[in-house]
Parts: sequence; structure tokens; C-alpha cells
Amino acid sequence: MNFFIDTANIEEIKKGIELGLVDGVTTNPTLLSKEKKDPESTIKEIVALVEGPVSLEVISTDSKGMCDEARKLSTLGPNVVVKVPMTEEGIKTVRILSQEGIKTNVTLIFQPVQSLIAAKAGATYVSPFIGRIDDISARGMDIVEDTLTIFSNYGFETEIIVASIRSPLHVLQAATIGADIATIPFNVLRQLMNHPLTDIGLERFLKDWDNIKK
Ligand code: G3P
Repeated sequence: MNFFIDTANIEEIKKGIELGLVDGVTTNPTLLSKEKKDPESTIKEIVALVEGPVSLEVISTDSKGMCDEARKLSTLGPNVVVKVPMTEEGIKTVRILSQEGIKTNVTLIFQPVQSLIAAKAGATYVSPFIGRIDDISARGMDIVEDTLTIFSNYGFETEIIVASIRSPLHVLQAATIGADIATIPFNVLRQLMNHPLTDIGLERFLKDWDNIKK
């Protein structure tokens, strides 16, 4: 399972790389706005820093505008993936970009048939937003499970990025059902490595070691 980091924060990406846990990065306009820096220089920095795929989102809502933005973004590096919203204009865009060999990540997916449509258009990745589905008292991970079944039924190569992850439990569920990728906020990435019993156990080992030496 690949771990992407869902952030536009350079320090978080660097820390994730040190841990060997950054197989790729996903950004979006909200994450970039949190950085309070020039977004263009931030995305250039991220693309240069990360070896794996970096998803950068278009802002246009019409296909021509999305295609123009995508072509420009794709010149930043061979690892750029263009994030396109799951709309009719977005699907038209994905079809065109896939014919041009530009990788795409269809974002804002909330039901499995949207993933099927994106895959038929030639999307490289689809991003179901599971946390936001859980927020409205539905089961986000069901979308991922159904999408996996659909892709396997028809042999689509489109990969699933489980997005809008809020907790370690989401990562556990994504891994258990065999999702290709989880894009994880940095705070959740850190939580994945922690357990109170690990801390208690380590404290005990160190205390006992000190006692031997006394
Ligand atoms: O990758 C998508 C993600 O950034 C959305 O997360 O927490 O805003 O639903 P959230």
C-alpha cells in the first residue's frame, strides 16, 4: 500500500520523507491556502522535493481552462498529476489529458459510479473523500470497497487514493480492504506510529536497565 501525504506544508513533507513514508503528495486549494505563501512557488518546491506523484489541482471549471492549466502544471515535472474535479467538464478534461499522456486524479468523489465514469475517461487515480461521507453519517469506506470491486470486475488500471482521511482507523480500514493508496494528513501519519503501551513498555525497559547498573 502506498502512503501519500495530504499537505502543502514543506516541513511536513520533509519530515515524512525522512521517515520514508512519502510515496507521493496530494494538495488542494484549501491546503495551499493554509500555507499563506505564494502557491506557485510552494507547488514548484513540492514537485522538486518529492520523487513520487504530486497531485496539483486545477482551478478552472470549464474544460478548456482545465486543459490549459493542466498542460502548464505538467511542465513542472514528470511526477505531476493533475487533479480534476468530478464534474462533466472534469470528465471531458480527463479524456483529453489521458490522450495527451498527462496523468490525472479525479477528486471530490462521493459515490462508486463516479469512480467508474472517471476510470472510463482514462483517469490515473480516483479520490473518494471518505471522511466527508462519514461526516454525514454514511459509510465512506463502502465507496472504496465498491470501487475496488468495480475496477476488478472490468480490469481498470485506475488506482484508488483513499482521501479525506481523519484517523488511523481510516488507514487500517483502507489497508484491510486493499486500497492502492491512502493520502494521509501529517498528524494522522504520526498517530499511526504511536501506541500508549509502546510508551509505557519503553519507559519500563529503560527503568529496568537503569536498575541493572545501580
Ligand atoms: O485529499 C483530500 C482531502 O484533503 C480532503 O480532506 O479533511 O478536507 O475532507 P478533508
